[in-house]
Amino acid sequence: MFETSKNLVGLDIGSSTIKLLELSKDSNGIKILSAGLVDNPIKDWKEKNIPEAEDAIAESIKDAYRKFNIKNKSVAIALGTSDVIFDYLKFPVLNEKELANAVKLEAEQRISSDINEVSIDYKRLGVKDGNGQENILLVAVPKGITRKKVDIAEKAGLDPLVMDVEPLALLNCLIALADDSRKENESIGILNIGSNITNLSIISKDNFPTIRNINFGGEKFSNFIAKETKLSFKEAENLKKEPEKLKRKGIDVFQMFEKQTISLINEVRSSVEYTHKRTGESEEDKNKTVTDPRIKKMFLTGGGGLLPGMDSFLSKNLGIEVVKWNPLEKLQLSSSIEDSLKDNGYLFPIAIGLGMRIA
Ligand SMILES: Nc1ncnc2c1ncn2[C@@H]1O[C@H](COP(=O)(O)OP(=O)(O)OP(=O)(O)O)[C@@H](O)[C@H]1O
Ligand SMILES: [Mg+2]
Repeated sequence: MFETSKNLVGLDIGSSTIKLLELSKDSNGIKILSAGLVDNPIKDWKEKNIPEAEDAIAESIKDAYRKFNIKNKSVAIALGTSDVIFDYLKFPVLNEKELANAVKLEAEQRISSDINEVSIDYKRLGVKDGNGQENILLVAVPKGITRKKVDIAEKAGLDPLVMDVEPLALLNCLIALADDSRKENESIGILNIGSNITNLSIISKDNFPTIRNINFGGEKFSNFIAKETKLSFKEAENLKKEPEKLKRKGIDVFQMFEKQTISLINEVRSSVEYTHKRTGESEEDKNKTVTDPRIKKMFLTGGGGLLPGMDSFLSKNLGIEVVKWNPLEKLQLSSSIEDSLKDNGYLFPIAIGLGMRIA
């Protein structure tokens, strides 16, 4: 018998680093064939509306393809700006065409920006509330930013087959790989702190997702350090990774966390409370009279979450166990993948979640 195997590359174009991961799926399961990361040469590309910025990023992606020996040109990409709108809708159970129309009408009411400037999509959440109404996630994405990411991929000679949003890719990775916690049927979350954007995805014990992009990232700490020490941003980025040197420069990391993370903590808290309120609303859970909506664990990923002490600081301030999580440790990796990359697995949850969109 011939084995059928399918491949897809998860391409995560972050403002600090570009992550690539080629994933294959066959009867033996999922395997990572190749993976790697390179610096994004244009850190503020989202604000730059010049073709040269896209060209430079596309060149870096091409270099990465050669460097990491990635073969497949089919890629999945995701949007992670705070301009992406997520909303939760409820409808009686409808067929696909009826639901698409109902979502469109509702979106026109709810979205204040020009409806022609956004692409509307929706996802059935597979959960009904106690009244038999179906829960739907509405996703509205600005067309401009979508076009930019697609252009970059195409300029790199790639075929963008799948377009996703970062918190959903993240959720996909969490559900697939945080297996122990999911087996216990617990509410869990994942917080991916990037350079500019933090993605938050929570899945309640009755499978209700809460997802969000938050304007927060590691860049905030670098700017703070640069200001305090009068160093350049680049020097501050390096200094940030060495806590002893930071201390010698008079920077107290915990004070920095306290000052700089107020907006992050507030946003995460409100999403957690929202999840708590809704847990137990589902038809299934109503019957089981679920009583404990608490989130048992928050997995911490992304470069911005790597600062020493960030996990315990968040645990204390959120009242939830927060643990650094390396999702690459959970996967079968090809022997050609370097050990140093496995250590960087914290940066890969979105690329993994995207690669898993394989048909
Ligand atoms: N070891 C480390 N310690 C502290 N901070 C780190 C470390 N490694 C990376 N960072 C920081 O993490 C951030 C980059 O993380 P990541 O690659 O997840 O972001 P990104 O995906 O490129 O950004 P975004 O998604 O916001 O566009 C930068 O702010 C960087 O300075
Ligand atoms: Mg990112």
